[in-house]
Amino acid sequence: MNSTANQILVIFGASGDLTNRKLIPALYDLYCQEMLPENFAVLGVSRSEYSDESFREKILPGIKEFANKKASQEEKVQDFLDCIFYQSIDTQSVDDYGTLKTRLEEINARCKTDGNYIFYLSTPPSLYSVIPSLLAAHGLHKEGKGIFRRLIIEKPFGYDLASAKTLNKDLLKHFREHQIYRIDHYLGKETVQNLLVTRFSNGIFEPLWNSKYIHHVQITSAESIGVGDRGGYYDGSGALRDMLQNHLLQIVGMVAMEPPSVIEATSIRNETLKVFQSFRPITEEEVKDYVIRGQYTESTVRGEHMKGYRQEKGVPDESRTPTFVAMKFFIDNWRWGGVPFYIRTGKRLPTRATEIVIQFKETPHRLFKDVNGAKKANQLVIRIQPNEGVKLKFGMKVPGAGFQVENVDMDFHYSDLQNTYVPSAYERLLLDAMLGDATLYARGDAVEEAWEFVDPILKAWATRDDIPVYGYPAGTWGPEPVDSMIEGENMNWRYPCKNLADDGNYCEL
Ligand code: BG6
Repeated sequence: MNSTANQILVIFGASGDLTNRKLIPALYDLYCQEMLPENFAVLGVSRSEYSDESFREKILPGIKEFANKKASQEEKVQDFLDCIFYQSIDTQSVDDYGTLKTRLEEINARCKTDGNYIFYLSTPPSLYSVIPSLLAAHGLHKEGKGIFRRLIIEKPFGYDLASAKTLNKDLLKHFREHQIYRIDHYLGKETVQNLLVTRFSNGIFEPLWNSKYIHHVQITSAESIGVGDRGGYYDGSGALRDMLQNHLLQIVGMVAMEPPSVIEATSIRNETLKVFQSFRPITEEEVKDYVIRGQYTESTVRGEHMKGYRQEKGVPDESRTPTFVAMKFFIDNWRWGGVPFYIRTGKRLPTRATEIVIQFKETPHRLFKDVNGAKKANQLVIRIQPNEGVKLKFGMKVPGAGFQVENVDMDFHYSDLQNTYVPSAYERLLLDAMLGDATLYARGDAVEEAWEFVDPILKAWATRDDIPVYGYPAGTWGPEPVDSMIEGENMNWRYPCKNLADDGNYCEL
């Protein structure tokens, strides 16, 4: 056991998919590593009727399937399940929060959790303002001497700038900023955090990490899956809201920030905010020149039929929701002046890969001939997932006569580390919230700043017919115009694999 304060984690939306696939398995993994507080309980809350026992039965298969730690020791799993409880309430009824309060007091007395509660909102976003205000109606938001009350909010945090501002205001009516944890699970990924360590623990990268040496930065987050049965939700969201405004911009924050003065929440989040504040705005008129949107269409890959987005369940026939977005933008500050950032994300692409490419400039003068004609400048590739690792590409002499240069790789894969356990993002983030460490959670001002940046794009897309929604066949790298987006001689997107046929589920770093 460790020194994390005793507490109860209350999960709203407990009968949902996220609880089953991510939250409970992550808690089980923490339990197996003895990282949960000594006295700890989970209270699942939702409208569905379960008893404590039937809820435990419901979540057991999820633990077996999704936890990293093998759930083979029956006794261990049973001990873990013993600290899980369930309460059915109507989350919109103020009276039901009285029932919730009584239940919490009972569990608190029984499990000796010292009156500390974390409320995790894994519900539809329409409840993100409602639940905190009803918790407050029963005083469940009030911290006391040595007693904390925290709120974790799942994404999406708002639908646009106006709704994000309203949500922030609503939350701050009852909770203070230090109590609010806005989750972005990309920040919980080990390799995203490693960006800070790669940059700020090595003397060799940081001197080159600026416009003098870097030609451009690329960030790709490709998914091979389609929207599956989430069409209903996704159609109201799209790639820009679902992935770019949050996950990708948070990665940009880590790549572009100045060194924080200390590794601590305020300092790191201040630096992220400064990056977001330095984004050069893309006006509605400029959207067509800087942003490309696309939607996957029906195709056949290796004999297998792939549905188009509009054929997915819950998606209207005429939908113009983008499942792909690529954009170019600039960060107007001392370090990055003039360096283009290119980011793209999409569903039904040839493979699953999230990576950052730092594309260095060519040498000032070309002395040698390259083996394949085209000179390739150095690249640092940071792979977030899968095959997590870092690769540096550089030129070497081809042995033998003359001075021909070939590009070679120097790389590191996390999988090379022996006996190193890489925790899941939710493990890390849940533990941090329990410890009261908000470093890897998004702060309200930064979330608003990110919305401010993407808002004109959403407005232009909604109002202008002259901005196309390009189709791209499922299993390809998105709309064709994206291929020529990157400017500069011999400069291109890095493709983790060329097309679906090459992939075979192997995604090279
Ligand atoms: C979620 C999005 O936030 O992130 C999903 O809503 C997306 O559409 C998912 O599939 C990707 O997360 P990961 O961790 O699998 O890259």
